[in-house]
Amino acid sequence: MTDRARHVIASCRHIAAMTEEPGRISRRFLTPPVREVHSYLRQSMADLGMDVCVDAVGNLRGLWKPAHRGRRRLMMGSHIDTVPDAGAFDGVLGVILALEWVRLAQEIAFPTAIEVIAFSEEEGVRFGVPFIGSRAVAGRLDPSLLRLKDAEGVSVDEAIRQFGLDPMKVPEAAIEPEDAAFVEIHIEQGPVLEAENRSVAVVTGIVGQTRLSLEFIGHANHAGTTPMHLRCDALAATAEWIAVVEAFARRTDGLVATVGKITVEPNAGNVIPGRVRVSLDVRHIRDSERNSAADELISKAGAIAERRGLTFEYSRLMNEPAVSMDEQLTAYLAEAVEAAGYPLKEMPSGAGHDAMVMAMRMPTAMLFLRSPGGVSHHPDENVLEEDVEAALQVGRRFLERFAADQARTNSSPR
Ligand code: GLV
Ligand code: MN
Ligand code: MN
Repeated sequence: MTDRARHVIASCRHIAAMTEEPGRISRRFLTPPVREVHSYLRQSMADLGMDVCVDAVGNLRGLWKPAHRGRRRLMMGSHIDTVPDAGAFDGVLGVILALEWVRLAQEIAFPTAIEVIAFSEEEGVRFGVPFIGSRAVAGRLDPSLLRLKDAEGVSVDEAIRQFGLDPMKVPEAAIEPEDAAFVEIHIEQGPVLEAENRSVAVVTGIVGQTRLSLEFIGHANHAGTTPMHLRCDALAATAEWIAVVEAFARRTDGLVATVGKITVEPNAGNVIPGRVRVSLDVRHIRDSERNSAADELISKAGAIAERRGLTFEYSRLMNEPAVSMDEQLTAYLAEAVEAAGYPLKEMPSGAGHDAMVMAMRMPTAMLFLRSPGGVSHHPDENVLEEDVEAALQVGRRFLERFAADQARTNSSPR
């Protein structure tokens, strides 16, 4: 099996070279390197005897149908878009491992169809809103999202057309969730498993996320001639607020809040900044805490702007509640971890995942693999061969357990 673990890692590294920027891994939603990833994965799926298609939001979907199958469908997958200057494993590892689970399923004559999805968009980098791929599959893509524009003024609708797809067909991407279940494999993206020297963990739930865009609007003016007390500096106001965000999150148990993106206008060294746009990402396992924190930080931004004589605007780009993983599917995964000889570790996910959206439509479970150094969203992101091996061992036990359950369901009277 170790050859397979090596092959999984080599595949992820191979895909990492498919990037918008040579020398760095950056692959936003529906940009040209996505075609290269599709063609590589399409071949891998075809080699496994899967039927392959690309849906209207650019999700690559492979379906393996065993000769004699029950009525359930196992869905698996993760995303193939990345953050700027990313690592090689966030998302992609979950797609490659899902294909290896299909190979395992074929070896044990698994009785259930498996659909593997390489989700086109999870990070929210290009259009500010994440999960475009899984939202379409879950039938939860608000049509107004198609009008969002990227930094070059290209809308989601136009990006879909430029990729050769038809935005009118987005509703057809949605699955009928009856009798389907979803499993996502992903790196932990944090330090917990490494600190406890564990290969894998079963995810119990995923924290909720709020993402906002905020704008401080002052007056651009000459940096040399405008006295300090007569300025309306949008960047100084923003800086004051960012410090408030950090202090607030530090003193609120379990809260993380991040200002990760900033655009300054006119962005010149000798001009007082007239307009600043920033992002805010707020997460907490309890939705009430997250919502009240987001409200509080918005009102603090408003107060800072008012005191400094600026105007202030904001919009909510995303407000996803925390979700629990499915109890039964998660129990199967936990049994599989123990049956494969690994100690069971259960933990929540602080990162968002496609599983978060899929869980709203069908029983969903997630398996985490240790992140060496706790590093992710960074080129040093890595995965250990022994942990990939663990995910393969867990996969075999999970598929056996799932198949046994399917056999019982099929034979029980209805
Ligand atoms: C996805 O990587 C996230 O922002 O959690
Ligand atoms: Mn990510
Ligand atoms: Mn991810």
